Amino acid sequence: MSVHRSVKKITTHVLQEMKRNGEKIAMLTAYDYTMARILDQAGIDILLVGDSASNVMAGHETTLPITLNEMIYHAAGVVRAVERCLVVVDMPFGSYQGNSREALNSAIRIMKETGGHSIKMEGGREIVESIERILTAGIPVMGHLGLTPQSIYKFGTYTVRAREEEEAKRLIEDAKILEAAGCFAIVLEKVPAKLAAQVAKEIEIPIIGIGAGNGVDGQVLVTHDMLGMNQEFSPRFLRRYANLAEDMTLAVKSYVSDVRRKDFPNDSEQY
Ligand code: KIV
Repeated sequence: MSVHRSVKKITTHVLQEMKRNGEKIAMLTAYDYTMARILDQAGIDILLVGDSASNVMAGHETTLPITLNEMIYHAAGVVRAVERCLVVVDMPFGSYQGNSREALNSAIRIMKETGGHSIKMEGGREIVESIERILTAGIPVMGHLGLTPQSIYKFGTYTVRAREEEEAKRLIEDAKILEAAGCFAIVLEKVPAKLAAQVAKEIEIPIIGIGAGNGVDGQVLVTHDMLGMNQEFSPRFLRRYANLAEDMTLAVKSYVSDVRRKDFPNDSEQY
């Protein structure tokens, strides 16, 4: 039997066993209880309480404004919904870059106040001291390399990363540093498929791709994008599995029309 079918709960160890067994890992984002419950029951392996909540839930242009308190609020709702999958909570911008002690305090707050199972941090060698300190406290860490949206003002664009040889070499080194530090998995965002496949081959922990091709160990998408709730965002790597914006608009229009026509509520819908 496959590893993911034989377990009641997904843990960091199960994910690593899935990689060893050649089973792909399915990960999506979630920011609230109701959505998380549906995704967990549908068989997702990892739910990421992403700092993309800053865009998706709060309407900010970047992920930078979301605060630690706001991430904790979102994550606590997600954790209350989940029975099977592993919950990873993003450390928001400004909650870990200062120094390793600040990073550890932020990670402890997330674990204590949300009940989440692990945290995710963007960056490579420059944050390894913080990663090691957090791991020493027993908190599992997922890395994030390639396009790292918290550094958008440094790079200036959301284009594909590590196309050049030197940047690709640095990325492979960073992935190895994160693995050696003890990260249980790494998200690889928007890098050439060939490079992503090479990273997944050269290191033993799972590589979860977004816009990183099919040669990695799993995939992650922003749920609101793959469900077609966000019509404006259409990158090449995004596959839409539903068109909820259209379905919801039709449903709401029907409701408005029924209310105006005095058709809702009818006799059986009242007391
Ligand atoms: O915040 C987020 O949603 C993410 C994913 C895009 C990986 O980091």
